[in-house]
Amino acid sequence: MNYLFGLIGHPVGHSLSPWIHEHFFEQSNIKGIYRAIPTPMDELDQIISGLRFINIDGFNVTVPYKEKIISYLDEMDPYAEKMGAVNTVKKQDGKWIGYNTDGRGYLRSLMSEYPHLKEDTAVPILILGAGGAARGIYRALIEAGFSHIDIANRTITKAEALLKLQEPNVKTTIKTLTEMTKSTADYSLIIQTSSVGMKPNIENQIIQLDKLSTNTVVSDIVYQPIKTKFLQSAEENGGHIHHGHGMLLHQAALAFEIWTGHRVKVDNLVNKLEQRLRGDKKC
Ligand code: ATR
Repeated sequence: MNYLFGLIGHPVGHSLSPWIHEHFFEQSNIKGIYRAIPTPMDELDQIISGLRFINIDGFNVTVPYKEKIISYLDEMDPYAEKMGAVNTVKKQDGKWIGYNTDGRGYLRSLMSEYPHLKEDTAVPILILGAGGAARGIYRALIEAGFSHIDIANRTITKAEALLKLQEPNVKTTIKTLTEMTKSTADYSLIIQTSSVGMKPNIENQIIQLDKLSTNTVVSDIVYQPIKTKFLQSAEENGGHIHHGHGMLLHQAALAFEIWTGHRVKVDNLVNKLEQRLRGDKKC
């Protein structure tokens, strides 16, 4: 079978997803193509009709359509329904089913680098930011059994909105970014989910880390630059770091699994992607 996959979003011209999925096809000996489809808002309806017409087997959805796509779907996977956002659509028995692999992809990436984190689900965790990415990560941590997850955000009401995803066995306190700067030592894992520090604003850092305790794992979902100022500062203060590009690979791998039923390995791609992000086009 020749699969046909795509990506809708705006802008998607520089997306790395086609490159990632080409590697997955090659690695798993599955034939198919994956194309980024630039989708301006006024062409969304037309492009969606086109995808139905060409009988696309599956597609990814990125900014700004992760919520908007839901009205075009026939069914939702329960996890995506809880998230209220979809990044992967699969055609099954003629129906379009919505999934979300962002949070779970993030967690797979983190656990593949720091498997010891699975051993104690009571460790205190801090999420910085409260947007779509934070929602996915918060929920994936809860599903994985973690029971103490605090959230700090610039806008407190936005952080409070995440509490809709909380379960009774999970303790979550909402904090301000300012108070967090003094309390980073209280956490074993700190996850930066905002766009702060992303190119071209590489000098920005969401909170200071000079009170970090050694051995804290500090994670940043920003992957351009590969090592953000936040991660540099974490290293300087004795933390262990987790880069953002792993999430990109693992969310793609989970989408590929949903579409083809084939589990792909991403370990060999992590370095290649890192080189590519550093500007080496040969990879
Ligand atoms: P995404 O869906 O990619 O997570 P988003 O929904 O726009 O993006 O959320 C971005 C997050 O980054 C938000 O938590 C935002 O804080 P606010 O809720 O206060 O807007 C946070 N963020 C963005 N720029 C920021 C900045 N300069 N300082 C602190 N937080 C910032």
